[in-house]
Amino acid sequence: MTPGGRTSVKRILTVFGTRPEAIKLAPVIRALASSEQFEPIVCVTGQHRQMLDQVLDVFGIETDFDLDLMQPNQDLSDITAAVTLGIRDVFEAAKPDLTLVQGDTTTAMAAALGSFYARVPVGHVEAGLRTGDKANPFPEEINRSLIGRIADLHFAPTVGARLALLSEGVLDRTISVTGNTVVDALFWARDIIEEGSSRAVDQIGMSLPGEVRELMTSQSSRVVLVTGHRRESFGPAFEQICLAIKEISERSDDVHVIYPVHMNPSVQEPVYRILSDSPGVHLIEPVPFLAFVWLMKNCHLILTDSGGVQEEAPSLGKPVLILRNVTERPEGVEAGCARLVGTDARAIVDGTALLLDHQEEYDRMSRVVNPYGDGTAAINILSVIEEYMIRND
Ligand code: UD1
Ligand code: UDP
Repeated sequence: MTPGGRTSVKRILTVFGTRPEAIKLAPVIRALASSEQFEPIVCVTGQHRQMLDQVLDVFGIETDFDLDLMQPNQDLSDITAAVTLGIRDVFEAAKPDLTLVQGDTTTAMAAALGSFYARVPVGHVEAGLRTGDKANPFPEEINRSLIGRIADLHFAPTVGARLALLSEGVLDRTISVTGNTVVDALFWARDIIEEGSSRAVDQIGMSLPGEVRELMTSQSSRVVLVTGHRRESFGPAFEQICLAIKEISERSDDVHVIYPVHMNPSVQEPVYRILSDSPGVHLIEPVPFLAFVWLMKNCHLILTDSGGVQEEAPSLGKPVLILRNVTERPEGVEAGCARLVGTDARAIVDGTALLLDHQEEYDRMSRVVNPYGDGTAAINILSVIEEYMIRND
């Protein structure tokens, strides 16, 4: 407390490094900035470079520290070592009262550990997701479990995530069910697009080739939107996914596949090798968030292994086929808006055909209320942090 009895302004450090962390923390940074009680400090590790900068730009996030650590084809030890060393100096300079990390990347895990070493409490946004299989997803299942051991505040997106934390012995009073901030980010982006601002028009116009924009707005084509990048699928499983995409694009003239290809060289190599000659497949570079939301809004259905995309799609009424064998996000499958099809080419082609050929099945999957959030997660997180600061002042 200050001498006058008021709580002093608290310095909240957010640390993130990849595209999905930036998207999911943007609403939290905005909420912190709108409060007189907090001073947000932003540190990016640059685990991703171009794909991270796209998000900083969309949401106008200014950074206070940038470790700029990305290397081509970096391995997990490189990232862990670089974040752990780089973040030490950030704590020294920023002197935060709380660190926020998001999700399960190696940036999030190493930043949480660094915060613990600096004796700064940690808040974990998107806490409690678990498959129970330490090799799936790799290395994310272990990253988030380690963060769960370190964190002092756990922001669980769903009741299921809260229960997973309780089953690991995490104290009930440190867990809050807040919803997932990705829904806040999605609504923010959707509003910018619907306002028809020049920013949205320019971003969609500049990042999407003309043929892709035409397909998205054409009444006579149905677009299957694809993303994929999981490390545990690299190799034969990823090739199976590519073969399935090729077959889907060949099934009829009105079906087209649009695939913004992740920049990881282990993704780019098989995707371009197997799919660049398929006329019905449109491979494009990763697109800025506003353009991607526009693609999701206007596509017919989505094939993905991305966590964030699975959580966003139900708010836009788009069925999702999950290109993975296990998921830490069972809520979408249970609610009926997502189906786990795995990485076998036959299963992916059959699952897609079911949705393309059976309207009642498509309608059933597209009419589900989003189980991951309602757009209020960042405000919920802010309230919990306020109470925590009052209790610990
Ligand atoms: C990382 C996360 C994963 C998350 C994903 C989101 C880890 C271990 N992995 O995986 O949990 O789901 O981000 O996309 O934390 N690259 C670029 N430019 C970019 C981004 C990546 O060139 O903007 C290339 C670089 O060669 C880089 C490689 O992709 O070395 C891999 O990036 P990395 O962050 O290590 O792994 P991802 O597969 O992106
Ligand atoms: N996304 C994007 N541009 C793209 C592909 C995806 O902005 O070209 C967004 C998408 O809407 C979601 C997030 O990036 O919010 C997902 O990131 P990614 O798939 O890299 O990671 P994951 O969610 O699997 O951790």
